[in-house]
Amino acid sequence: MLKLTYLSHSSFLLEDGTHTIAIDPFLTGNPTAPMKAEDIDAQFIVLTHAHGDHIGDSFDIAKRCDSLVIAVNELAGYVAEKGMQSHPMHIGGAYNFDFGRLKFTIAHHGSASPEGLYMGEPAGVVITMGGKTVYHTGDTGLFLDMQLIGERDRIDCMLAPIGDNFTMGIDDAVKAVEFVKPGLAIPMHYNTFPVIEADPEEFRRKVSEQGGSARVLAYGESIEL
Ligand code: NI
Ligand code: MN
Repeated sequence: MLKLTYLSHSSFLLEDGTHTIAIDPFLTGNPTAPMKAEDIDAQFIVLTHAHGDHIGDSFDIAKRCDSLVIAVNELAGYVAEKGMQSHPMHIGGAYNFDFGRLKFTIAHHGSASPEGLYMGEPAGVVITMGGKTVYHTGDTGLFLDMQLIGERDRIDCMLAPIGDNFTMGIDDAVKAVEFVKPGLAIPMHYNTFPVIEADPEEFRRKVSEQGGSARVLAYGESIEL
């Protein structure tokens, strides 16, 4: 059993009944956030990259919950310098945690701390937990190697940005779903700010027209995978 909750933007909770992971928890300053950072209780925080709309509230949550922050090496080092527990990894590497297996993948984007420091490469992440495998692409443009990600792990659920401007737009995200062939695709990183406005129903329709399955989650909505 794996419960997935959409916290808006690129923020998700994964829960298997024992462990809770918060991915890119960005609630404070996010006009679409359905809850506050203090409502989140997570033993693990996974960060795809260091931009403010992804690090978000992770430091406050990590300090309050004593969470383990999992990120690529440079960002994990920054987290440790700020006094939190972190587990450094890098793209292509997987590790078996208490909750299951986590592997970082490539993402084509940038990554810098709020002070402008280099935070390593941005990443996507493949998490196997509660018998299900979720691929959160992070912020990225479309790339052909997504085919390989879908070949190496059977992806039950793919979380794909559709907001354009900083990441894939709808048509590239639909192509990404064709590459990965997930059981279910869920759009993210849209409508948080005017510059990333997109119609998630258009994404859902186009994925289904090519024989795939997509679902648009409301802010705060949970599904069982
Ligand atoms: Ni970003
Ligand atoms: Mn972003």
